[in-house]
Amino acid sequence: MSKETGLSALILAAGNGKRMKSAKPKVLCEVLFKPMICWVRDWCERAGISEVCVVLGPDGDEVKTHFPEGTSFALQQERRGTGHAALQAKAFLRAHAGGDVLVLGGDAPFVDDETIRGALGMHRESGCAVTVITAQVDDPAGYGRIVRSKRSVTAIVEEVDADDTTRSIHEINSGSYWFKTDFLLEALSHLGCDNAQGEYYLTDTVRAAVRAGKGVCAYCSPNADIAQGANDRRGLLRLGNIARMRVLERLMDAGVQILSTDGVLISPDAEIGRDTQIYPNVIIRGRSRVGEGCVLTSGTFITDSVIGDGALINASQITSSTVGDGARIGPFSQLRPDSRIGKGVKIGDFVEVKNSTVGEKTSIAHLTYIGDSDVGERVNFGCGTVTSNYDGKRKYRTVIGNDAFIGCNTNLIAPVTIGDGAYTAAGSTITDDVPDDALAIARERQTVKPGGAVKYRKN
Ligand code: UD1
Ligand code: CA
Repeated sequence: MSKETGLSALILAAGNGKRMKSAKPKVLCEVLFKPMICWVRDWCERAGISEVCVVLGPDGDEVKTHFPEGTSFALQQERRGTGHAALQAKAFLRAHAGGDVLVLGGDAPFVDDETIRGALGMHRESGCAVTVITAQVDDPAGYGRIVRSKRSVTAIVEEVDADDTTRSIHEINSGSYWFKTDFLLEALSHLGCDNAQGEYYLTDTVRAAVRAGKGVCAYCSPNADIAQGANDRRGLLRLGNIARMRVLERLMDAGVQILSTDGVLISPDAEIGRDTQIYPNVIIRGRSRVGEGCVLTSGTFITDSVIGDGALINASQITSSTVGDGARIGPFSQLRPDSRIGKGVKIGDFVEVKNSTVGEKTSIAHLTYIGDSDVGERVNFGCGTVTSNYDGKRKYRTVIGNDAFIGCNTNLIAPVTIGDGAYTAAGSTITDDVPDDALAIARERQTVKPGGAVKYRKN
């Protein structure tokens, strides 16, 4: 979606969410590994809104770290309602006078870009001062109700301020709105707080518009989940389950095979290619990309990583790393940050790789640690190889050339270089560089004492 000038958004995020029992602001509570406010941020971006202001409470510093440079922030010192929160962004609104501003809650992660654009279309065509985004829901409890007379909206009434007739309305306020910025500025300056909660309600701007004879529209979203929010951890789980199934359904529609949904948690920002099979209990976090025709077996846990086509990830953990086409990883191995694993590499069981490159077709089959290393192509590692990369003060690199053969139980004391085609004998502790095609043996020669065992037993 291309950016359009004149489009701005105000995200209200100063709520404290006591009931979450979190040390963090409520909007940082995560749904499918993604803080609620980041869902909202991304929907705005996808809807083509470039100018964003976030209203934060005094504990909101961490929220700022989730927004790009150029984002505006306003501080709401005291939590006095959604209208009061919006008013704190006066400077931002003034700077965007003459345009339209979207106002959203930072704790409703399922508003979507289509709804935002659809509502904007209605807002522009109708020339309304405010367009409320609404939804028809089975259980309206807790939400503001949309009161209409004939067909036009006359008010939004909060549950606590509503009588029985109003409470029986199933069209609810999602908490997202398009406003003419100038109208919003004007209306906010006249808000009162004469209601059950003694708060300045943003929703009272609707009455103000009606009173002033200005148009109010309601855009009823086909997505009934847009208003869904969470007030406590049970609510978060509910949102998580909705989000989880939506992601899995989208992936299945794109040709991904989900063998069972049990324990499968996949971030909304992950991409997975067709014909990839996902076994139960697979977790994929962040902006991970998994190619086509891969197999991810149970216990696999991938975070912010890129996996090529046709790879097998067998009960292994991969974090901030890349894995080439056709590689086989695991079972029970770990790729820690900044590992770059080439095409066709075989990494077997109980192998840990960290901050290293491993060239194509290299095999590291068992019980090995490769840290801070640059490993060439077609290298064979014997069982139990260890790069000794750390001397207690600093980390050093190990370099291994193409076609090298590292014998079982080799210790590579970094910094050290093993040349192309070089061999190390099993059990060697290699402290000096090994030239191309050389054989390095760094272990004591064996002594055999005939009858020595008999003597030993007698002692
Ligand atoms: C609000 C709406 C309600 C709607 C619902 C949808 C009002 C008066 N009511 O109610 O009609 O159905 O959202 O979820 O607006 N916030 C601040 N500062 C404050 C208060 C709130 O920044 O002083 C932020 C919160 O962080 C949150 C958003 O505003 O992101 C909504 O606040 P919340 O208290 O959850 O409003 P609701 O009672 O849910
Ligand atoms: Ca809410």
